[in-house]
Amino acid sequence: PDYDLLVVGSANADLVIGVERRPAAGETVLGSDLVVHPGGKGANQAVAAARLGARTALLARVGDDAYGRLLLESQRAAGVDTAGVLVGGAPTGVALITVDPSGDNSIVVSPGANARLSPEDVRAAAALLASARVVSLQLEIPLDTVATVAEVVRTARGGADTGEGRGEGTGDGTGEGGPRVVLNPSPPAPLPAEVLAVCDPLVVNEHEARFLLGDDPAGREEAPEAWAAALLARGPRSVVVTLGAAGALVADRDRTALVPSLPVKAVDTTGAGDAFTGALAWRLGLGEDLETAVRFAVRVGAAAVTRDGAQESFPTAEEVAAL
Ligand code: RIB
Ligand code: NA
Repeated sequence: PDYDLLVVGSANADLVIGVERRPAAGETVLGSDLVVHPGGKGANQAVAAARLGARTALLARVGDDAYGRLLLESQRAAGVDTAGVLVGGAPTGVALITVDPSGDNSIVVSPGANARLSPEDVRAAAALLASARVVSLQLEIPLDTVATVAEVVRTARGGADTGEGRGEGTGDGTGEGGPRVVLNPSPPAPLPAEVLAVCDPLVVNEHEARFLLGDDPAGREEAPEAWAAALLARGPRSVVVTLGAAGALVADRDRTALVPSLPVKAVDTTGAGDAFTGALAWRLGLGEDLETAVRFAVRVGAAAVTRDGAQESFPTAEEVAAL
């Protein structure tokens, strides 16, 4: 495979204002000077992996505007192959972000061009998909588009992917018989069974886990083990539940393990989950087992929360090693 990782997803300009507290409905609060950062869950994952040394490509859509150029530039600066980034159709996606003194954020996204990344765009990029060890997905692009990626991957595996164990050449990260698929359902939306079946792993935080579980009684439990078990029953080959400062829970059909995080001082958590998932997807592409890959990824996520912004805060391999 030409790429360790292909990210199919969103690219947004992040318009960030620091606030003492978030405004309630009908209220106005004053905040800090506006800062514009390159962001978007897909673009963030790609930069995270490339900065660590992964051979990375991005399939995305930006507008023919200044924010689109900002995003292309940040991808290229990190070493991401942007040949798959389509330009035009709508303004570049924008995320309006407030960050409070504890480093927590609230985000409203205007998808813009991300909403125009179509199933046809994915089919036209079938060769790019086939040239990656791992494909990483999030949900800031249309669900139809995500489902088409899953369909193209299943076809590359000869349609033999039943989700029952892992057959020869099916999504084992070698890129033979189709790439392995990592999916972070953020922002959460109901996922079709065919999409869930290709996820290895499905990466969720608490909020996303409870959303996907819906009325399932497991979703009302406090134990992440219960969410992971109930999510596994829906078809993904593995599940990772991210737990913020508590680390991450790893679960597949054979075992469950809690991977602790590192104690760090949070400055800005924006994009830390994307850094985690981008790093995880890359390490899986290198052939690491899930728990080992998660051990590495939690360090990447921890480093990312110690600095402002999303992409600018992502660490190099040396910085991860020094943690
Ligand atoms: O996950 C963080 C990202 O979410 C931000 O960069 C913002 O663009 C939103 O997509
Ligand atoms: Na950060």
